Amino acid sequence: MSGFEVVVLFCSTLLCFCFLRFLHKIWVAPTRLQAKWRSQGIRGPSYKFPHGNTKEISYMRSQFFDKPMDISHYVHDLFPRLHPHVYAWTKVYGRNFICWHGSKCQLFVTEVELSKEILMNRDDAFRKMDMEGYLRKLLGEALTTNEGQKWAKVRKLADRSFHSESLNSMVPEMRSSVAKMLDKWGSYQGREIDVFKEFGMLTIEVISRTAFGSSCMDGKHIFEMKEKLAALAAKNLHKVRVPGISLVVRSDDEVEAERLEQRINGSIMEKVREREREGELGSDYLGQLIRISHESDVKKRITRHQLIDEVKAIYGAGNYTTTSLLGWCVVLLATHTEWQDRAREEVKETFGGNIPDFEGIARLKIMNMIINECLRLYPPALSLTRTVAKETKIGQLCLFPNTNIFISVLALHHNPRIWGDDVHLFKPERFAHGVVEATHNNAAAFIPFGIGPRTCVGLNFSTNEAKIALSMILHNYKFVLSPNYVHCPIENIILVPRNGIQVILEKI
Ligand code: HEM
Repeated sequence: MSGFEVVVLFCSTLLCFCFLRFLHKIWVAPTRLQAKWRSQGIRGPSYKFPHGNTKEISYMRSQFFDKPMDISHYVHDLFPRLHPHVYAWTKVYGRNFICWHGSKCQLFVTEVELSKEILMNRDDAFRKMDMEGYLRKLLGEALTTNEGQKWAKVRKLADRSFHSESLNSMVPEMRSSVAKMLDKWGSYQGREIDVFKEFGMLTIEVISRTAFGSSCMDGKHIFEMKEKLAALAAKNLHKVRVPGISLVVRSDDEVEAERLEQRINGSIMEKVREREREGELGSDYLGQLIRISHESDVKKRITRHQLIDEVKAIYGAGNYTTTSLLGWCVVLLATHTEWQDRAREEVKETFGGNIPDFEGIARLKIMNMIINECLRLYPPALSLTRTVAKETKIGQLCLFPNTNIFISVLALHHNPRIWGDDVHLFKPERFAHGVVEATHNNAAAFIPFGIGPRTCVGLNFSTNEAKIALSMILHNYKFVLSPNYVHCPIENIILVPRNGIQVILEKI
């Protein structure tokens, strides 16, 4: 055989091999996996090459995207609107079903017991999903997504930084950020103001001051870039790209995302170097992160790259979510003025004319019920995601690797079997005797902050911040929705109002 023939034979064998691998990935493996799920009674729309079911999902979602929602009858039925595919397919295929993102299998879970078993698992059977593309740039590889040692060493540090003693010392910073916002509101009396924008600024200022000792301007700069990146991520969420194609041709959105990522990283590194130059690392969360990046023990140390990502993660996790919570609380209180009055009365009784303090905040019962009911109807994080790391049995059900799991928080929070026929109504009184009673002994059906080892680090931080902000607003203002407000909740990574939240303020 001539040298040329050997090369041709080698190339054609290689091509054949690549083709067979490709065929296996896009056809054999998905079809087999689908059959395995079906054999256990877990059904779903059939796998389609190359998009899976993403086209149907995008179509269903587009039906609602810019359509306003009527809440004149106080019905907050968000599930069919925001997760139309989950709503429709649970009716056809049952409470848990599979569908396909390209050739990736997705298990959607809406059943309380199964959600709980997955989220509470400590055997490393279900891991955080690997973030790809835009989401990876947005969230980085940090606390929110890391696993094992890499996760554990920062989780301990974050728990300490955002736990109750540290929170006590953050109250003055939170109060003065709210006071600054309310000063500005003074010039809006009787006029319309978009409180969603205001809360965006407030929460970025609070997280900047308390966790990173930064001025609002530093935080705002990072926040604005992250917002643009989040918009790109949301726009491309249901698009399927041929694997590896980005290495050859990059879309305009990918180029823009890369540029934003580099600028965000640059801004954070500047802040870190500034502290290192001054030799004052600080005792806040950023200071703690810089310290462990200097650790001599490799096991305890984090890399510069991880440090940047950890900062990004807290900026991302800490402010969009709390902005969402505050925004929807105001919408609900503006439309249910009896609850606005009750909350104001409680604030007066608890603090008199004084500014909110840490002990008083813990005693706000009505406010707590309102916040819980708001988090139930409008959970900022609509789904929790995991991936099956190893074959695992839960009851009779076997969960297979190569499957991503989506637990629909929205489906759990809007399930009439758990919450009753008035499930779509704003009724804070359902939480009067705690979560266990509100859920009829199904506490895992109320998971706005998750459950299990990966529960939200900022749970107390954000509820304290929300209570302080709402107390100070209620003490100073009555508010109603502006006639220009259009109720249009959309999922932009988290739950946000599409057109802001315009209210009219009346000074008390
Ligand atoms: C209303 C406000 C908030 C909501 C609804 C919320 C929701 C959540 C949820 C649902 C998770 C769990 C995700 C999962 O199990 O996969 C989570 C995790 C996390 N949250 Fe929050 N969050 C809020 C505020 C905050 C704040 C203020 C911070 C930072 C100070 C924060 C930092 C984090 C971090 C770091 C994680 C990852 C924890 C881990 O995986 O170990 N969150 N959050």
